[in-house]
Amino acid sequence: MTITVTDPPLIELQGVTKQFTGVRACSDVSLTVRPGQVLCLLGHNGAGKSTLIKILSGVYAPTEGTMLIDGEHVTLGGPRDALDRGIATVHQGAGTVPLMSVARNFFLGAEPTKGRGLFRRFDAATAARIALREIQQLGIRRIRDADQLVGTMSGGERQALVIARALHFGARVLILDEPTSALGVREAETVLRAVETARDRGISVVLITHQAHQALRVGDHFAVIAHGRLIASFARGEKEAAEVIDLMAGGAAMKELEREQA
Ligand SMILES: Nc1ncnc2c1ncn2[C@@H]1O[C@H](COP(=O)(O)OP(=O)(O)OP(=O)(O)O)[C@@H](O)[C@H]1O
Ligand SMILES: [Mg+2]
Repeated sequence: MTITVTDPPLIELQGVTKQFTGVRACSDVSLTVRPGQVLCLLGHNGAGKSTLIKILSGVYAPTEGTMLIDGEHVTLGGPRDALDRGIATVHQGAGTVPLMSVARNFFLGAEPTKGRGLFRRFDAATAARIALREIQQLGIRRIRDADQLVGTMSGGERQALVIARALHFGARVLILDEPTSALGVREAETVLRAVETARDRGISVVLITHQAHQALRVGDHFAVIAHGRLIASFARGEKEAAEVIDLMAGGAAMKELEREQA
């Protein structure tokens, strides 16, 4: 897939604010999701990252500001609207059902069937074949049996399954909210490789993480959020890990100050 600089951004947030009762979760944030690139959203707990991606994925409507998809102003009616436009989101802590098989998890709610009318039934063989193929294409080679329960997969493999599923169902933008937060180094690596594979296939990825090193490893663009505000945005190669960690910590320090002054 060739992407030129003249291609409009896939998604743009312009001056987005989300006010909950008593809490302004994000304030005047502008972000650009570019075709075939990985945008990393960095920030500490409570910074407003999940709120932002819930706006991108149609869960919340912004209180102020606008959203553009493919250069056009849109108002998403809900997550279904976002999905219909190719925006697939894996929310924090969500994704798979441990007591269901790999194949069932892969097709959750969209199972292939065979037969007609009363004879219509789950096509297990097709589901197994597709699920295994797609998962293996993301570098997960240890899973060879689609009947295996997802609960027996590692955390990284489960995240990769969810990513494979979104790609198979036609996602153009994949939003991952802290997919590596509960994972060890090797498991996180599995997820990061899946993110790179998705990008290499031309998919845009929005990756939320606390881990500056992971972000720098896969990101093309970076946005640092603190107290609901965008405090820095930069491209790959423009900042060192230490600087990014300082930026994030600077945000945390500001919060302490605000608390002391309150
Ligand atoms: N539905 C809601 N109602 C009220 N306040 C909310 C709601 N959702 C989030 N908040 C508040 O908005 C702020 C930002 O929350 P958000 O979940 O976006 O942070 P985050 O950056 O994703 O944090 P974490 O890294 O811990 O996941 C927090 O103070 C949170 O308590
Ligand atoms: Mg969050």
